[in-house]
Amino acid sequence: MKLICANFKMNLLKKDINLYLKKINNNLNNKKVIFFPSNIYIKDFHDKNYLVGAQDISFQEFGACTGDTSILQLKELGITYTLIGHSERRQFFNDDLYISKKIALAAKHKIKIILCIGESIEEFKDNKTLEILKKEIDLALKNNLKYLTTSNIIIAYEPIWAIGTNKIPTNLCIQETISLIKKYIFTTYNLKVKVLYGGSVNENNILELEKIKNIDGYLIGSSSLNPDNFLTLINKIN
Ligand code: 13P
Repeated sequence: MKLICANFKMNLLKKDINLYLKKINNNLNNKKVIFFPSNIYIKDFHDKNYLVGAQDISFQEFGACTGDTSILQLKELGITYTLIGHSERRQFFNDDLYISKKIALAAKHKIKIILCIGESIEEFKDNKTLEILKKEIDLALKNNLKYLTTSNIIIAYEPIWAIGTNKIPTNLCIQETISLIKKYIFTTYNLKVKVLYGGSVNENNILELEKIKNIDGYLIGSSSLNPDNFLTLINKIN
């Protein structure tokens, strides 16, 4: 079954969350959906028995890290997954410095990791996609092999230029990139990983994306924000 991840980013207020929960009530049709709301709403999803994850975790367990949220605190709210290395974290918060530590912490505390990787438009045009993805994979995995298994890490391939732009790589391009990611991680780290696609997935392009054979799921941003659209979208996913 495909894994469907809804990344709300820094959107929605309490009244929107209440309405969202009302609308999706029992309508997920047995799809495997994980919600990634802002931290302050994690408990709302957990209390209704939905799978819920954090959009990020602190690289420290506790202590002097003003404004951050510890994985232990997030676990108390009910997370079982966390995104790590989303391109917006890498861009605005210098996340590359902390990714390796975050992976180790998540694995230590038995939280499943969704590691986000992806190339910029310049890198894509220069044919550097694979080089960049390998670098991001190595940074995250190479010091953490003792903690990682096939079941605690998933990769989300999100080309930066496809995020929030309504631009999307061709099916062939996505399929080839996913296949290269799987092959690289297997040959280098002996891990068989699942790979999700993210970047401008919506209810209009999902049927075309569903033709891609090696996609294990989707990481969906803006099209997850409206519960009606999101329900239409997930019902088109096998
Ligand atoms: P969009 O679906 O809005 O392009 O966002 C993708 C994303 O960044 C999910 O993490």
